[in-house]
Amino acid sequence: MDRIRIRGGNRLNGTIPVSGAKNAALPLMIVSLLTPGTLTLSNVPRLADVRLLQRILQNHGIDIMVAGKRAGQNGMAGDVMHLTARDIADTTAPYELVSKMRASFWVLGPLLARCGEAKVSLPGGCAIGTRPVDMHLMAMEKLGAEIVIEGGYVLARARKGLKGAHIVFDKVSVGATHAALMAAVMADGDTVIENAAYEPEIGDVAECLVKMGAKIEGIHSSTLRIKGVTSLTGAEHSVIPDRIETGTYAMCVGMTGGDVLLKDANAGHIGAVIEVMRSAGIGVEAVNEGVRIHRNGQALRPLSVETQPFPGFPTDCQAQLMALMTMAGGTSMIRETIFENRFMHVQELARLGADIHLHGDTAEVRGVKKLTGAPVMATDLRASVSLVIAGLAAEGETMINRVYHLDRGFETLEEKLSACGADVTRISG
Ligand code: EPU
Repeated sequence: MDRIRIRGGNRLNGTIPVSGAKNAALPLMIVSLLTPGTLTLSNVPRLADVRLLQRILQNHGIDIMVAGKRAGQNGMAGDVMHLTARDIADTTAPYELVSKMRASFWVLGPLLARCGEAKVSLPGGCAIGTRPVDMHLMAMEKLGAEIVIEGGYVLARARKGLKGAHIVFDKVSVGATHAALMAAVMADGDTVIENAAYEPEIGDVAECLVKMGAKIEGIHSSTLRIKGVTSLTGAEHSVIPDRIETGTYAMCVGMTGGDVLLKDANAGHIGAVIEVMRSAGIGVEAVNEGVRIHRNGQALRPLSVETQPFPGFPTDCQAQLMALMTMAGGTSMIRETIFENRFMHVQELARLGADIHLHGDTAEVRGVKKLTGAPVMATDLRASVSLVIAGLAAEGETMINRVYHLDRGFETLEEKLSACGADVTRISG
């Protein structure tokens, strides 16, 4: 297994290109199940999760072609992916694949809409919380599907096709909103989805669906109104920039000091992160080419922050913010309200010298004067990258084990950071 070695203490200066968003690319790839036409996605990040979903979709019979890099193309430009689901060969998503990546459960809605049936493995446990799928199933039932759980699988059937419905979620869920939207666009009649999540990735999927012929109103709001259509066509769509990657590198710069342009970042997608970073004393400016982050000697101020669905502070940046606050000049309070077990980075940050105490859903982070390098490992993607942030500021060497977590969601992390002066090296296992 690969490891990443960081020798801390270098400031970051230069440009970091932001990749396409993992959490938009994955559902966009799944959308291709809805049409026999070709969906062409550009700016697709090169990530382990994308490769895995490719395999899962190929299992359903989707033809996938990834265009090679063109002459003169910037090495950091994303892939162009052509997906064609002329026929669905198999409506089963097996346990061996779904258990490796939760988002593959989202094939349920499109398979039901296109084929009237689906057999999808329940995703099972996850390092950050229990993560049930009850709201996904409620939405499918409202749209007229019969659901049975058997042998760890969801067996869903809509013999006469899906019917438009009024769906009200009692909690905001990104996945359940994706599922309801992807199923409703081809249901018979009108659907209203209330208390929908409106993370930018959901807006991106909805905009792609509109290009394919779907009729959706209320995109980028918490109420989606959909008029079902009988078929969708192929389309071309570019994946939005990754706001979590943006927030992560912004915190790297906040941690080390320096001046970095996050190229192609969309400031409008990270309003809450920008506000928090400015309160901490970090300079953040939206510029033509992206977002500029700088800190020059100012001490980091402690903060009180809680995670919330968009437009609030994202849970996917909570671990990274905690790493940043380990070196603030005072005590910060960070409350996690989305996932009940998303504090696995706390013990690992402590190995680097952080002073963090957990009180239920809240972490009390007492700023320390210095962190020192150590071997660490993490159990999920965002937790791993919080260790990178701490390692960039720690004295001496930090060795991050289980790098496959990082590779799931951060494209060429070591190259991007090294290009700005960090001492970060991948050591092949
Ligand atoms: N929930 C339910 N029932 C459901 C669905 C969700 O109770 O049927 C609960 C969850 O347990 C959680 C809350 O609702 O407490 C919100 O979960 P949500 O459904 O919004 O999460 P998700 O769709 O499974 C996506 C992202 C996560 C991100 C969350 C929250 C993708 C592929 N995943 O997950 O991203 O943390 O939304 O924003 O888009 C990551 O990229 O590292 C990651 C974990």
